[in-house]
Amino acid sequence: MDEVKIMEKKWWKESVVYQIYPRSFKDSNGDGIGDINGITEKLDYLKELGIDVIWLSPVYQSPNDDNGYDISDYQAIMEEFGTMEDFDRMLAEAHKRGIRIVMDLVVNHTSDEHAWFVESKKSRENPYRDYYIWREGKDGKEPNNWGSVFNGSAWVYDETTDMYYLHLFSKKQPDLNWDNPKVREEVFSMMNWWCEKGIDGFRMDVISMISKVEGLPDGKVQGGLYGDASPYVQNGPHVHEYLQEMNKEVLSKYDLLTVGECAGVTIEEAKKYASNKGTELGMVFQFEHMDLDQGEFSKWSDKKVKLTALKENLTKWQNELEGKAWNSLFWCNHDQPRVVSRFGNDSKEYREVSAKMLATCLHLMQGTPYVYQGEELGMTNVPFASVDEFKDIESINAYHEYVESGLISKEDMMRYLCYKSRDNARTPMQWNAQKNAGFTTGTPWIKVNPNYVEINAEEEVKRADSVFSYYKKLIALRHQEEVIVYGHYELLLPESEELYVYTRELNEEKLLVICNFTDKEVSYAVPDEFVGKEILISNYEEQEIKQELSLKPYEAIVVRR
Ligand code: GLC
Ligand code: CA
Repeated sequence: MDEVKIMEKKWWKESVVYQIYPRSFKDSNGDGIGDINGITEKLDYLKELGIDVIWLSPVYQSPNDDNGYDISDYQAIMEEFGTMEDFDRMLAEAHKRGIRIVMDLVVNHTSDEHAWFVESKKSRENPYRDYYIWREGKDGKEPNNWGSVFNGSAWVYDETTDMYYLHLFSKKQPDLNWDNPKVREEVFSMMNWWCEKGIDGFRMDVISMISKVEGLPDGKVQGGLYGDASPYVQNGPHVHEYLQEMNKEVLSKYDLLTVGECAGVTIEEAKKYASNKGTELGMVFQFEHMDLDQGEFSKWSDKKVKLTALKENLTKWQNELEGKAWNSLFWCNHDQPRVVSRFGNDSKEYREVSAKMLATCLHLMQGTPYVYQGEELGMTNVPFASVDEFKDIESINAYHEYVESGLISKEDMMRYLCYKSRDNARTPMQWNAQKNAGFTTGTPWIKVNPNYVEINAEEEVKRADSVFSYYKKLIALRHQEEVIVYGHYELLLPESEELYVYTRELNEEKLLVICNFTDKEVSYAVPDEFVGKEILISNYEEQEIKQELSLKPYEAIVVRR
């Protein structure tokens, strides 16, 4: 097979990335907030897990309207998280252990407290005015009908200059004007500064949204109060041109892992963003599989995904990008609920096996896998009791907008929040069974999931059949078996609503991956070439691979031909 020839080998294709949300990872000084020294303390834990790269959610100076995704100084560390010296030490300690660090790059917008915006607001003539997107109102109203991702209008009126500024996210996250060459220059020079420091790459926040369609036309109003901006801001007219420029000015000069968060990305677009030619980025995060369980009010729903739909979608990405662009693989991040509660089963009986099954299903695919903190423990969604327990701006704003307008009842919205809120991913990492899960000696900034008494790292690291030990094994397997990294993917049984079965093949090597997505026993007729063959990994006691296999609830088995 000649895929490998087409697919150039790269370290970042062979890596497993671990995402850290610093605020919730480990508090080192008792103020209830995770910090950089806390991360340094836990590097040995990550080394034990076996990951290669850390993606660090933002640690820059920020007023924390959106937990660090609103940056007021790109070259300073958030006080709550520590100092630049702490950062340098963490980077050096990580490198000592062979772990690379990828920074979050949030440059679609800044904080409204960034010096550029403070200047920009001062007058229509200010040299920084065109760093942002300012427009005149229309008939005494907003320049267009766009809604912000965090609800409400995407525009804020500013009295000083009698104009509106655009914010696709919160009011405190004004969008940068990428059409201004000075903005691009500033961003590139800041990126070069971090690269010179020795960081190993960038995860680029909503990078598919940096170029807006000229004229900013009104969007369609569906199921909410505002127009949908996405067709005019996602994969916009100049996005590839700007990323090629970034590649030339920054990325091409270093050996980096780059991954673009590309809301609304299609296969065709992904082939441009993450082309094997290396003209833009290394890979993209696509979100289609995360959107399959959306309902009438977009993500606010408790709909369950159909397995056939999930398989069809993931298979499309596996097949279409092969040899052309590189996939990223993820079930979880700081914006998504916990996967074991979403696509698995978080009951006492099935939490561990279903978490391991989901991990198997994802980690055996082609692409770079991402593990989000706590996923390796099988951490679950959180029993939030009332809206006051949420800290996330998206969840709080959505609750008020939908409930107060009468579009969704209080009870339904609470159920949707418990199922989908980003705060499910943001409760503290569960380190041990002591107070506050060992996350802090103080008062944690967000509630701790009460199940830390059973689900925690200390217990799982030492137990051979824990979710942690299983992730460790999966990660080690990927490092050993080239077929897991580069092999060709093929879906079997596309019609089954119970089993996700696929093969991976590279030269003489062939693997069969069988995953039972249900809480029932399911039988499966094993293809001849795998009967009686060796099991590479499985989440139950190993059984002999007979022609007629009976799979236990959430069983996952990988067989080598
Ligand atoms: C991305 C981040 C999310 C953030 C948003 C605005 O989607 O992942 O956490 O709120 O961008 O920066
Ligand atoms: Ca702290």
